[in-house]
Amino acid sequence: MTQGDFVKAISQRYDELSGQQCCLSCGGAINYADIKEGYHCADLGSGKGYDVMKMATMAGEGGFAWGVDVSEAMMTAARENAKKLNLTNTAFIKSELENIQLESNSLDVVLSNCTLNHSLEQNRVWKEIYRILKPGGSFVVSDIYALEQVPDDYRNDPKLVAECWAGAVTREQYYKNLQDAGFGKVEIIEESAPYEKGRIKVCSFTLKGSKV
Ligand SMILES: C[S@@+](CC[C@H](N)C(=O)[O-])C[C@H]1O[C@@H](n2cnc3c(N)ncnc32)[C@H](O)[C@@H]1O
Repeated sequence: MTQGDFVKAISQRYDELSGQQCCLSCGGAINYADIKEGYHCADLGSGKGYDVMKMATMAGEGGFAWGVDVSEAMMTAARENAKKLNLTNTAFIKSELENIQLESNSLDVVLSNCTLNHSLEQNRVWKEIYRILKPGGSFVVSDIYALEQVPDDYRNDPKLVAECWAGAVTREQYYKNLQDAGFGKVEIIEESAPYEKGRIKVCSFTLKGSKV
């Protein structure tokens, strides 16, 4: 399997879901983002753009909110939603999380909700988050972690990873990725009890941290 196979499966699943009214979030990251006037922000895995629109509204005309996604259909839906609100300070770009097409040291806030678990190289994604944040900028991420290491049979199946569970890493691995990227101090704002997702047990959590 190549990275391309995973991106293809993810795009396919979310292209299909772009026309449906289902909740794709796994926490309340946006509620803790503390966006101020003039902020430049990004939502990684922006889906239909709801959180991007909230951030753009809070950041005002002097600020800007980027949506980042690999699903064309999600981005089309997001652009239409932003247009309905007459928002001129948003843009949606097609980009994989492991190689984010945004400038280094350019953002005050990076948000993400229920998306990072789709990456099999989450260590690279966290390094990208660190790279695009300004010094002093912060991230707020809602995601899931696996209670036990996910068997390779599941992790190597693009369809199961696209279903938003088989790419999950353990809590220990999650923290290692954060530390390796440079985020020494991380606050857990929300954490669920364990529940079944796909064929594994996971917890949802929302994390906040800063680039020092
Ligand atoms: C579960 S949905 C969450 C959407 C939105 N954040 C929300 O809370 O409603 C995951 C989104 O991330 C996108 N996505 C998944 N893996 C990605 C990747 N590796 N690179 C970029 N986008 C990705 C999907 O296309 C989808 O729109």
